[in-house]
Amino acid sequence: MPTFSYIAFRIVFLQSKNGTEMILPIVAYGDAVLRKKAEPIVIEYPELNELIENMFETMYAASGIGLAAPQVGLPIRMFVVDATPFSEDEDMTPEEQEQFKDFKHVFINAQILKEEGDEWAFNEGCLSIPDIREDVFRKPQITIQYQDENFETHVKTFDGIIARIIQHEYDHTEGILFTDLLSPLKRRLIKGRLSNISKGKINVDYKMRFPAMKRKR
Ligand code: NI
Repeated sequence: MPTFSYIAFRIVFLQSKNGTEMILPIVAYGDAVLRKKAEPIVIEYPELNELIENMFETMYAASGIGLAAPQVGLPIRMFVVDATPFSEDEDMTPEEQEQFKDFKHVFINAQILKEEGDEWAFNEGCLSIPDIREDVFRKPQITIQYQDENFETHVKTFDGIIARIIQHEYDHTEGILFTDLLSPLKRRLIKGRLSNISKGKINVDYKMRFPAMKRKR
């Protein structure tokens, strides 16, 4: 008769075999993949559904609200967003909270067609740049064309925080990081911290891959 720990082992084993979700290491600041203009993909992209699931899992494990494919080392035009945590933010009105509920989307081959309005500041962070948060100025409203996970094309207009999350993730597929958008003075002030991140000299509670440490292997 199997012991209790044997049963527990079996359950874990079966779960990881059936549910194929896997947490991927997030690429840290300084890796060249974050600087590439990402390439469009086609519906035949190998194991696309698994990749999408893994990206969501990876993002949740790091408590993120958006994650772009270059951040898991793939220079392809895809990012995932789940803004649901904002639906519980008590600083928001019930109408705003409603907007974030179930906002879980995959953006493939996205192109921002229009950005409109007067720039506003919002405090941004990035899973590839842990512990650095800065106010970034961007336009409040965007119109974006993209394909969903079934490769159906959409053209939609978003504003406020949702537009902001999309702009940040979209920038990743263009090789742009939020720190690029800061003033020269701000950039100079965080230079040392950015360099520490790329060397892995940082405490972070999710799985990461550091460019400077890769070379040593
Ligand atoms: Ni980011």
